[in-house]
Amino acid sequence: MTISSTIKSQIESGSWIRKMFEEGALLKKKYGEENVFDLSLGNPIMEPPEEFFEQLQYLASNPKPGLHRYMPNAGYLSTRTSIAKQLTKEIGLNFIAEDIVMTCGAGGALNITLKTLLDPGDEVIIFSPFFAEYIFYIQNHNGKYKIVSPDNNFYPDLNMLDKTITKKTKAILINSPNNPSGIIYPPELLEKLSIIINKKEIEFQTDIFVISDEPYKKITFDNVKCPEIFYYFNKSIIATSHSKDLALAGNRIGYIAINPKYKYKSEIIDGITFCNRTLGFVNAPAIMQHIVENLQEITIDVNTYKSKRDFMYKNLTDMGYYITKPQGAFYMFPKSPIKNELEFIEELKKENVLVVPGRGFGIEGYFRISYCLDDKTLKGSLKGFQSAINKFIN
Ligand SMILES: Cc1ncc(COP(=O)(O)O)c(C=O)c1O
Repeated sequence: MTISSTIKSQIESGSWIRKMFEEGALLKKKYGEENVFDLSLGNPIMEPPEEFFEQLQYLASNPKPGLHRYMPNAGYLSTRTSIAKQLTKEIGLNFIAEDIVMTCGAGGALNITLKTLLDPGDEVIIFSPFFAEYIFYIQNHNGKYKIVSPDNNFYPDLNMLDKTITKKTKAILINSPNNPSGIIYPPELLEKLSIIINKKEIEFQTDIFVISDEPYKKITFDNVKCPEIFYYFNKSIIATSHSKDLALAGNRIGYIAINPKYKYKSEIIDGITFCNRTLGFVNAPAIMQHIVENLQEITIDVNTYKSKRDFMYKNLTDMGYYITKPQGAFYMFPKSPIKNELEFIEELKKENVLVVPGRGFGIEGYFRISYCLDDKTLKGSLKGFQSAINKFIN
């Protein structure tokens, strides 16, 4: 054995998306790229907005002295000030630069937050369906994950949450707009969550943090807005990025914002800044920080995703698929027409359509479609979706 047994078993257990990717590569080789419809990857085809390229060009033609050097681990003061200003405007609370830490994407933000908060054996509650990496992020820092199942709307089952919180619960990790379901948690749900958390904190005499993973916050449809978590939870932290809203996933730029009203916020920010350094991120990429400093008002064209959602939702529901209509992000999570979604996915594969099984997101009987793809792939997949469902209905 050369590598850690923990990592070896994590690689095996977290292999759904990779497995689909490998199978997709085989199918593409056999049938040709254009005849395989790979809806398994959440890697958006959209390019960053024009303003990004203008900023990039400006920086290249006017290099600031020291542009490529180390900087404070929390990031440039000017970038953090710009984000604090924007959040003050959007959220309506008074943020200062010290409430923000620049990170290597939302994934980096989540890791340094968990590292800061967790002692070995502390529990973190996640709501299924969840972004599969959460399990590894929590385990990276010796935490234990606890899963709360959803109701029919993909909202967490609050009775189960009530029973799942223990003395060891250190944090609850939420993700809305959600990957994979595309649903947004409404204000009433956040209100109910906060009542349960407050009650449990009193019962156990503990502090429970809410970590809100929000990289899709600006990608919402039909005038639904994502409620602000800082209004519901006092001990709360946002982990986010510009991977999706500016289509910069490969450039690894994100940030953490702490609730400006939280009394001990500077202790948390100091911990997070320290962990940014000691986990080896050191700081978020310098050029990207300079660029996003000037792009806080900009978002990719959300209507492009809305039309793709409308197209897939209408066509698939017309065929008989049951889907909770996504309100944001760029995924949908249809119910498998048969109980075992792995069997159904095999049928889709016979039609050269690739999707990810629900069990990769913590629940069986569903599958995830990513629709952040070109229209030709989406259109091309419909024939396969139709043939596969025809085998199980009528
Ligand atoms: C729910 C969720 N959280 C976090 C991430 C990681 O985002 P980033 O690329 O900014 O690290 C993703 C990426 O797909 C995601 O879907």
